[in-house]
Amino acid sequence: MSVQIKTPEDIEKMREAGRLASEVLDFIGAHVRPGVTTDEIDKLCHDFMVGVQGTVPAPLNYAPPGYPPFPKSICTSVNHVVCHGVPGDKKLKGGDVVNVDITVIKDGYHGDTSRMFYVGEPSIQARRLCEITFDCMWRGIRAVKPGAFLGDIGHVIQTHAEAQGFSIVREFCGHGIGKRFHEEPQVLHYGRPHTGLKLLPGMTFTIEPMINAGKAGIRQLADGWTVVTKDHSLSAQWEHTVLVTDTGFEVLTVSAGTPPAPQV
Ligand code: MF3
Ligand code: CO
Ligand code: CO
Repeated sequence: MSVQIKTPEDIEKMREAGRLASEVLDFIGAHVRPGVTTDEIDKLCHDFMVGVQGTVPAPLNYAPPGYPPFPKSICTSVNHVVCHGVPGDKKLKGGDVVNVDITVIKDGYHGDTSRMFYVGEPSIQARRLCEITFDCMWRGIRAVKPGAFLGDIGHVIQTHAEAQGFSIVREFCGHGIGKRFHEEPQVLHYGRPHTGLKLLPGMTFTIEPMINAGKAGIRQLADGWTVVTKDHSLSAQWEHTVLVTDTGFEVLTVSAGTPPAPQV
């Protein structure tokens, strides 16, 4: 199956799913504070999705080839956890940074977005990593237009991260999205300009760089999901779902609480 071009009808439903995913993040922000467990955050999000929005949490029981079914409704990745953190009974504490990654299904379409949250006051280093990762995501988004290449996205992300002394996780990438959670293409967060797939209007995919303060190496934990940095350095991630338009891009995972794009 190759890269799909979404129809105007598909796109309207993707906007709706994207907005709803982002609204879950708006809702959960106030609950991410010291003493709260990631299980409690998961439960609050689950109940909001199912009970208030009428959306389906896509992660719950998601089982791509080679993975056990994901046991929770959201991913919570704290400090040195790179991605796919499984909510549990550990309490958040002041100074933690946590990525909350939400994917909802509405009317058969997926919206996928994540943000970093500060628990109390982060260290200067942690704040810098989170901010640079946000800027990296946005540099990638701004590279999206018809006729550009996937390699252009990866290149701007990699260049900005490495200029700050940070490193890009290679093993996980952005992805096409629509009726399926993960579809073609793979959107690498590193690469060379003018390489890879050429972008066309109607493509929808995520941009979700995972950036480590230390070395790029990762390790998968025995739960089959949680990914951590090998050197235990901090890791950050932000994610939006985007559409290639006739003239550039449209971010689909937008809601009232979406952090504004950085100044160029
Ligand atoms: N939301 C993640 C992504 O951005 C995927 C999580 S898969 C799960 O692609 F099963 F862990 F939820
Ligand atoms: Co994603
Ligand atoms: Co996600």
